[in-house]
Amino acid sequence: MGIKEALEAAYDASMHAYAPYSKYHVGAAVLLDDGSIIVGSNFENASYGLSLCAEAVAIASANSESRLHNIIAITIAGGKPDNDGRAMLTEIPCTPCGRCRQIIKEVSDVMDKDIAIYCLHQSGYRRYRLSEILPDAFGPNNVA
Ligand code: THU
Repeated sequence: MGIKEALEAAYDASMHAYAPYSKYHVGAAVLLDDGSIIVGSNFENASYGLSLCAEAVAIASANSESRLHNIIAITIAGGKPDNDGRAMLTEIPCTPCGRCRQIIKEVSDVMDKDIAIYCLHQSGYRRYRLSEILPDAFGPNNVA
């Protein structure tokens, strides 16, 4: 499996978002170096600030399987849900929030790689490198 499957997996994972407050569904998938995929969806809370983003859930799940070191790319799909709960994509892709960029920074540094981030939109995807969307980032080296 590759990026195409990881993009589809993120889109499908948006169906499982628990987002009764924002009503904005996000699915994320991490693609591992052996081609396997681990997904996450946003998981909100009545105490709004406690909500978890899809990317954080996917990355923490990968860590729970001892696969943090194997992540090569992250895919994201977000939007208002359709009747099945999948994100309705627009021309503007859902890009990772600031907190998730910092979480991806941790993965990037663990991997010693500038992780690629693929964000789905209506007519395709946009591909970013973490360093592009979180320049001059604070990270593990600062506290070493
Ligand atoms: N959200 C994500 O899951 N990932 C992002 O990168 C952007 C925002 C979630 C958080 C919240 O549950 C909802 O989308 C609306 O902000």
